[in-house]
Amino acid sequence: MIMKNIAVFASGTGSNFVAIAKACQSGVIPARLAVMVCDKPGAAVIERAKELGIDTFVFSPKDYASKAAYEQEIVKLLEAKKIDLVCLAGYMRIVGETLLQAYEGRIINIHPSLLPSFKGAHAVEDALAYGVKVYGITIHWVNADLDGGRIIAQRAFPYEGSDAGEVHRIGQKIEHELYVETIKKLLCEL
Ligand code: GAR
Repeated sequence: MIMKNIAVFASGTGSNFVAIAKACQSGVIPARLAVMVCDKPGAAVIERAKELGIDTFVFSPKDYASKAAYEQEIVKLLEAKKIDLVCLAGYMRIVGETLLQAYEGRIINIHPSLLPSFKGAHAVEDALAYGVKVYGITIHWVNADLDGGRIIAQRAFPYEGSDAGEVHRIGQKIEHELYVETIKKLLCEL
């Protein structure tokens, strides 16, 4: 069987990246994590990738003349690495036309709410402010509609408190499991 290549895009802490990287390295996900792409020089995820020996590329959008030029550079890298699946894991940037034209149908994202509720960058805080009693995690295809692509997997959990940190903690534990399971399933279908 030919090993598939996956890329993870991240901007922050990288706990989902670590879960995916470890699952690839232990064979739980039957794929090679060929590259981690980060748009934030200094993000903690860069150090984590180094520790795990994963090739890392840090692209700072402000170093490019346009979003298209920035994404063109990323597309070149993904093509060179023969990437089959791109997994956004806390990549806090809207995927633009250039990347979508090249990879739509091969990009997935994890989002900390039960989409289509609470799209955007502050999903947990928005859900708390609304007083919801059931939270959740969604994995979906990425298209031009922000957090609006077709849903692949969801998991819900009840929470009646008011502590955003606690919701994040419960949610992230679920994210790590759900992302690994979902990537594993998708790779069989690609
Ligand atoms: C994750 O909880 C993910 O759901 C969220 O960013 C976090 C990244 O954590 N993504 C979004 O909010 C996307 N809109 P991590 O860096 O520890 O994986």
